[in-house]
Amino acid sequence: MIEQPGMTKICDIEEESPGVKTFFFQWNLDFVPGQFIMVWIPLLDEKPFTISYTRKDIAGISVLKRGVFTHALHNKKVGDLIGIRGPYGKGFHVKTTSKSCVVGGGIGMASLATVVDKLPDITIIQGARTSSEIIYQKRLPEMKLCTEDGSIGFKGTTVDFLKEVLKTQTFDSVYTCGPEKMMYKVVELCKSHGIDCEVSLDRYMKCGFGICGQCDCSGRRVCIDGPVFNTAELNTMEDFGKITIVKTGQRVNIHERYCK
Ligand SMILES: Cc1cc2nc3c(=O)[nH]c(=O)nc-3n(C[C@H](O)[C@H](O)[C@H](O)COP(=O)(O)OP(=O)(O)OC[C@H]3O[C@@H](n4cnc5c(N)ncnc54)[C@H](O)[C@@H]3O)c2cc1C
Ligand code: FES
Repeated sequence: MIEQPGMTKICDIEEESPGVKTFFFQWNLDFVPGQFIMVWIPLLDEKPFTISYTRKDIAGISVLKRGVFTHALHNKKVGDLIGIRGPYGKGFHVKTTSKSCVVGGGIGMASLATVVDKLPDITIIQGARTSSEIIYQKRLPEMKLCTEDGSIGFKGTTVDFLKEVLKTQTFDSVYTCGPEKMMYKVVELCKSHGIDCEVSLDRYMKCGFGICGQCDCSGRRVCIDGPVFNTAELNTMEDFGKITIVKTGQRVNIHERYCK
């Protein structure tokens, strides 16, 4: 693990969709799918991103352009420097013997892509609002797609689609990452079918290694106790699907954070 940010050159950039780019850099450390790194842009900020690709001694992060930090990252070119430290947190418990499914909502697919790399026979569901938001279509051609506007694949949400899939297929494990409301419903659906579920939570992070308490979710520090939690852990976390802590330290309804 790198504990101080080390500066590294961006060695390649791939456009995954109009709003998402993958940035590749030299990397030769082990990691577990679902773990994250802290990315530093000097004089701006530091933010967590999941490792979405590994190729020999190169790793990648896939970034959705949202606010100031991600706009600045999207403006970076091959050869520019970024700081990275990590990997941090607890990742997915990938069970190679079980029949599994991943359910990704939008950029949440970035956390799940390296799970898929380890489990070639997995069922992959990706959902988005519309077709232009779908990522990794070339990388994961076997993906089952759904969009809220019906522009590609099943018309409806990932939860509607998973309900349909569960009418004909069953799984031992479901791994999910995406908007928290979606993940909450996926967990409830899996509970009703007796399926184990693992969820990667997104909380605003500052230190990334358990010191500041910013990423609290019902007494768990998402940066070190997660970001991946299983159904048994989530059952004890009342804030899951409901409350998050914003940059100022204020507890807000999770829907408010994502709709501002
Ligand atoms: C463990 C972990 C892994 C992460 N991995 C990735 C990753 O692989 N790729 C990636 O793009 N991001 C990832 N994120 C989120 C990332 O760290 C940033 O918070 C996010 O990209 C927004 O940063 P920003 O400064 O550009 O936008 P901000 O200025 O923080 O936010 C801009 C706007 O986007 C909204 N917003 C912020 N976060 C979300 C969200 N999750 N969903 C919907 N709206 C939101 C805010 O309400 C605001 O309106 C991860 C977060 C965590 C905790
Ligand atoms: S981000 Fe500081 S404790 Fe998790």
